[in-house]
Amino acid sequence: MTSLPATVTAGPSDLPPNTCALPRTGQLAGLLTAIRDKQTARGDFIFYSDRIIRLLVEEGASEALSARPQTRRRTLAGGDLVADQSSPSLQTGLNHLPVVEKTVTTPTGLDYNGVSFEGRICGVSIMRAGEAMEAGLRECCRAVRIGKILIQRDEETAQAKLFYAKLPDDIQSRYCLLLDPMLATGGSAIKAVEVLIDHGVPQERIIFLNLVSCPEGLRAMYSAYPQVKVVTAWVDDGLDAHKYIVPGLGDFGDRYFTSN
Ligand code: PRP
Ligand code: URA
Repeated sequence: MTSLPATVTAGPSDLPPNTCALPRTGQLAGLLTAIRDKQTARGDFIFYSDRIIRLLVEEGASEALSARPQTRRRTLAGGDLVADQSSPSLQTGLNHLPVVEKTVTTPTGLDYNGVSFEGRICGVSIMRAGEAMEAGLRECCRAVRIGKILIQRDEETAQAKLFYAKLPDDIQSRYCLLLDPMLATGGSAIKAVEVLIDHGVPQERIIFLNLVSCPEGLRAMYSAYPQVKVVTAWVDDGLDAHKYIVPGLGDFGDRYFTSN
């Protein structure tokens, strides 16, 4: 048995510039291994997915920065040797929101020169699977407003179809954390961004939070909306003939909401 260090770093090195992938720590790889395993029952799938979602939304910049790539030439999957990555952006969801200076007085009577978030935010989930990410966002941003966009991929063609959107009235003045755990062809996420833009949200105010992506979807999003930030927990190898992510984890929505 090979024992792997706590920080595993090598991921794809040619990500589009709007993409931020979480550092490949042993913890993250372990959580993903649990949800990739087809034997994992729904209760555990929910538990481990929720933990990754929480990391995506909240993980502190300091922890992320401390896991900056070190020299290492092997992936956790134990397969291909990959080139080391220099230093991608390692911020997580909330770390992409701008802050402004704020000074408060502490109970000791002294001033503390700190920061507070600039601007207001909202979450927007792409139904159904994106709804699994709402609780993680609420745990970090109490009473956050959440809009919903129902987009479904046609099971035969994998084309995304928009059915419904219900968004906060003042969404155009908020930063939008767009939520969907899977980015495959990119069709669903791109359609959701279109809806947000039609509602007046500038693309640079949209941050797409995602668990598993692949180069095809990331490239599609970048060429459609280069200023939308994509924060993904893991970039997989690609798509199979049915446009499923490989190695992937299957149908996230089914596994989280309806499977045994
Ligand atoms: C899944 C997933 C994404 C989409 C990704 O949803 O949650 O929304 O597919 O694929 P794409 O990048 O090729 O568009 P699906 O339409 O299967 O619906 P669900 O959320 O009800 O499972
Ligand atoms: N939707 C999923 O849930 N999984 C995939 O691999 C692709 C689309």
